[in-house]
Amino acid sequence: MSDDATAEKTFTLTNDQTGESVKLPVQEGTIGPPTIDIRTLYAQTGHFTLDPSFSATGSCKSRLTYIDGDEGILMHRGYSIEELTSQSSFIEVCYLLLYGDLPSKEELAEFTDHITYHTMVHEQIHYFFRGFRRDAHPMAIMCGVVGALSAFYHDSLDIWDPQQRIISAHRLIAKMPTLAAMTYKYSIGQPFMYPRNDLSYAENFLYMCFGVPAEPFKVNPIHARAMDKIFILHADHEQNASTSTVRLAGSSQANPFACIASGIASLWGPAHGGANQAVLEMLDEIGHKDRIPEFIARAKDKDDPFRLMGFGHRVYKNRDPRATVLKESADEVLNDLGVNDPTLELAMELERIALEDPYFIERKLFPNVDFYSGIILRAMGFPTSMFTVLFALARTVGWISQWKEMIEEPSLRIGRPRQLYTGPEARPYVPMDKRK
Ligand code: SDX
Repeated sequence: MSDDATAEKTFTLTNDQTGESVKLPVQEGTIGPPTIDIRTLYAQTGHFTLDPSFSATGSCKSRLTYIDGDEGILMHRGYSIEELTSQSSFIEVCYLLLYGDLPSKEELAEFTDHITYHTMVHEQIHYFFRGFRRDAHPMAIMCGVVGALSAFYHDSLDIWDPQQRIISAHRLIAKMPTLAAMTYKYSIGQPFMYPRNDLSYAENFLYMCFGVPAEPFKVNPIHARAMDKIFILHADHEQNASTSTVRLAGSSQANPFACIASGIASLWGPAHGGANQAVLEMLDEIGHKDRIPEFIARAKDKDDPFRLMGFGHRVYKNRDPRATVLKESADEVLNDLGVNDPTLELAMELERIALEDPYFIERKLFPNVDFYSGIILRAMGFPTSMFTVLFALARTVGWISQWKEMIEEPSLRIGRPRQLYTGPEARPYVPMDKRK
């Protein structure tokens, strides 16, 4: 893997107008497409590159996650998502993403303790919630309260101190379930539940969401297992929009809590993490399989902004491996819970019809991670408004691991893209009395 201009492999670009050529080094990773290192392109040619949605642009090197969109592969530190969801746990995947390898028994126990004993939030944070209306969207609250964490943890804001970086990571991974549960409790007018140190990560989250002070609460083990699997499936996903937002915010040396809050804001969009809520709203609007053709037609109509939510992906041009796992889980969880949600059948029928339609086949539009997750979450009792909060909860470990990897790069520089300017040329100011 080369990282200098004397790379043995190079790419030559030639300016067809002037005949000038420039030789650019090729950088290769462990697996996946090689990259053309264009860092010297402007200095050598006076040209920028232009790639507005970064379809062909690598923003960084990373060792965390590998995706092969054509083969439908997703790996974290080399371990397949299929093996991690069937054999690992979310807390172990958190360790893997943060530290790079699967932990020993002792390492896992110590890490679990670190997370467990950081789950409480400062009592003052309870008062932040009082400022929101009860019907505030939970993601709006999460943007606010997560960003506000930097007002409480001055002892772990020095991003150059490795110990403070790790403490911030532990705090964020540990407190996201507590804050997420608080947003849910606040929305339904129930008291906040304090975390319990005798429960696992997923059990504790479900307890804080569905327990009440008035009586003991027993976590359903099927729910807990499904929750843990859903967290694993959402943990990290290469340089997606919200992760790239976190990295760009972090490149200015902003504190980790502010960076994660920026990731939450980006994830909220219905083209990204907000899709899991939009899928259920779409399925509820479709209502019956007889109306599927009407919505398929709308999704194909260029004059209609409607898109089939939960379908398509910038990278996966084959099945999203997470959707495959979630589809199997949805069936299993609903059966185990004895929930007969016709929405699952409707979703499967919609998938079947869409995947037989040339429009979706030609564009390689398959169900993505958001297509089935909401069906499981609703069966577990979560309102659709909480779906993206759960995505943000799980993705926090990916965001903070990618942030940590970036800060630890020896060549950290602020991210500062350029542009192709298409505005007016220089012109003199026109006083008001001279304007039309
Ligand atoms: C996530 O990046 C990540 O890794 C994200 C994520 C993660 O874990 O972080 O995987 C999580 O965000 C999953 C995606 C969730 N979003 C949705 O389900 C919303 C619906 N999907 C689309 O908005 C869309 O597919 C995107 C946003 C996911 C991808 O958009 P792209 O890559 O910019 O694709 P595109 O808009 O260029 O579409 C290519 C073609 C277009 O048609 P043509 O112009 O070629 O005729 O496919 C069409 C699009 O109109 N198309 C769809 C469609 N998705 C793409 N048509 C109908 N319904 C859809 N869902």
